[in-house]
Amino acid sequence: MLHLQIVLTHIINGTMVAKINFLFFFLSLVLLFSSSTAKTPPRPRAFLLSVTKDAATKQYLTSLPQRTPLVPEKLTIDLGQRFLWVDCEKGYVSSTYKPVPCGSVTCKRSLSGGCVETCLAPPSPGCNNNTCSHSPYNPFIRTSTSGELAQDVISIQSTDGSNPGKFFSSNGVVFDCAPSFLLEKLAKNVKGILGLGNGYVGFPTQLANAFRVPRKFAICLTSSPTSRGVVFFGDSPYIFLPGMDVSKRLVYTPLLINPVSTAGSYFQGEPSTDYFIGVTSIKINGNVVPINTTLLNITKDGNGGTKISTVDPYTKLETSIYSALTMAFIKSLAKIPRVKPVAPFKVCYNRTSLGSTRVGPGVPPIELVLGTKNTTTSWNIWGANSMVAVNNEVLCLGFVDGGVEPTTSIIIGAHQIEENLLQFDIANKRLGFTSSLLFGQTTCANFNFKSKA
Ligand SMILES: *[C@@H]1O[C@H](CO)[C@@H](O)[C@H](O)[C@H]1NC(C)=O
Ligand SMILES: *[C@@H]1O[C@H](CO)[C@@H](O)[C@H](O)[C@H]1NC(C)=O
Ligand SMILES: *[C@@H]1O[C@H](CO)[C@@H](O)[C@H](O)[C@H]1NC(C)=O
Ligand SMILES: *[C@@H]1O[C@H](CO)[C@@H](O)[C@H](O)[C@H]1NC(C)=O
Ligand SMILES: *[C@@H]1O[C@H](CO)[C@@H](O)[C@H](O)[C@H]1NC(C)=O
Repeated sequence: MLHLQIVLTHIINGTMVAKINFLFFFLSLVLLFSSSTAKTPPRPRAFLLSVTKDAATKQYLTSLPQRTPLVPEKLTIDLGQRFLWVDCEKGYVSSTYKPVPCGSVTCKRSLSGGCVETCLAPPSPGCNNNTCSHSPYNPFIRTSTSGELAQDVISIQSTDGSNPGKFFSSNGVVFDCAPSFLLEKLAKNVKGILGLGNGYVGFPTQLANAFRVPRKFAICLTSSPTSRGVVFFGDSPYIFLPGMDVSKRLVYTPLLINPVSTAGSYFQGEPSTDYFIGVTSIKINGNVVPINTTLLNITKDGNGGTKISTVDPYTKLETSIYSALTMAFIKSLAKIPRVKPVAPFKVCYNRTSLGSTRVGPGVPPIELVLGTKNTTTSWNIWGANSMVAVNNEVLCLGFVDGGVEPTTSIIIGAHQIEENLLQFDIANKRLGFTSSLLFGQTTCANFNFKSKA
């Protein structure tokens, strides 16, 4: 409205301004009146999914009702993957399935470079003529294939930030149809992958467009396979028992664009949908770990840098960074004898020799220094997130060697983000992180999943 007023006063000469302002005032009254008489139910500010950790595969799973009639689909969460994909080959029945046509706006915005002009089998979900094609990817078998891009109904529970609320449905959420073989190595009964990646067809942006909530989401993964963590889509608060809004603890750092896709396969020109942050150094006990910082920058070819992953169970470091970090860590605990390492880890200690703190085993925190100059922040990784209990007696430094010349130099893995809340604010290009919630004496398992009466 303000914009309208400025334009009008600009084009009308001085004597007319008062009248125009009056008209403007009248117009706003009419608008106010009509919006208060239209009794639409309040739109939810946020939605949620519950997340469990599968003990056998260490995958994080959720369930999303999709199709007509609705069928709850068990899905593995992949933070950086570009979209939701499900098995359409076996048992996909839905009266509301719509393939995305080649050349459509949705197809273009998905950055697809493929079109299936003719599918030879009889028409079915996953096989239609003139359909936009994209590449679903299974990171556990490192396999991509081609799939039909489609839209169908999904249903998701709203939240006020402290409890789940009513379910809402949208009929146009974009996803990709995959063949059944792509489910290999996914946890038992899982039917696809929920890609939370940063892009137009990413699930967070699809939800934001469908329900007009902000383009942001927050994940809180639990370390326990017997409890539930949570993903919030849309606005905070994020309230955990005993009544603590953990969004108050968020510290922000910019999310960075990697100009080249880091997926298993991609179309020319597709940027990465992974979430990258600007680690500029690593410190232990305040001492800088000597690493080649060139590896921390993202090159124009899309190599290097630091991303966050829910499909890598432990943080993976490029070989020279891995060696430098493990050496510095050993030095920081020089007085404590190490025990025989347990693969895939190389640095292990007897639990009794480390002692324990509120935030896990008593080891110095590993500090990721983020951002530059006046925007510098630190993400401290405390014992509960740095050490892994490989058995009742032995704790190992939970970082692994990512090899020489990996695409991405640092991949922050799932163990390092458990019991931390991470907010991916896509619209404002920033990551909010809390560090360990154990400091505040709560955990990701403390969201109250009981619906309010
Ligand atoms: C695609 O078109 C071809 C030829 O026009 C037709 O034979 C075929 O049945 C169609 N396939 C599907 C899946 O509709
Ligand atoms: C640091 O890494 C870059 C990128 O891999 C490499 O070109 C350079 O030679 C490395 N520098 C040193 C001192 O190892
Ligand atoms: C990394 O990139 C930043 C910003 O572009 C630049 O200032 C810095 O010199 C680069 N560091 C290295 C080691 O190349
Ligand atoms: C760890 O320490 C305990 C008690 O000091 C000892 O009984 C146990 O054998 C040790 N375990 C290993 C793997 O060293
Ligand atoms: C950082 O410095 C830049 C340039 O000096 C300034 O524009 C920006 O507002 C500063 N940011 C913060 C968070 O202080």
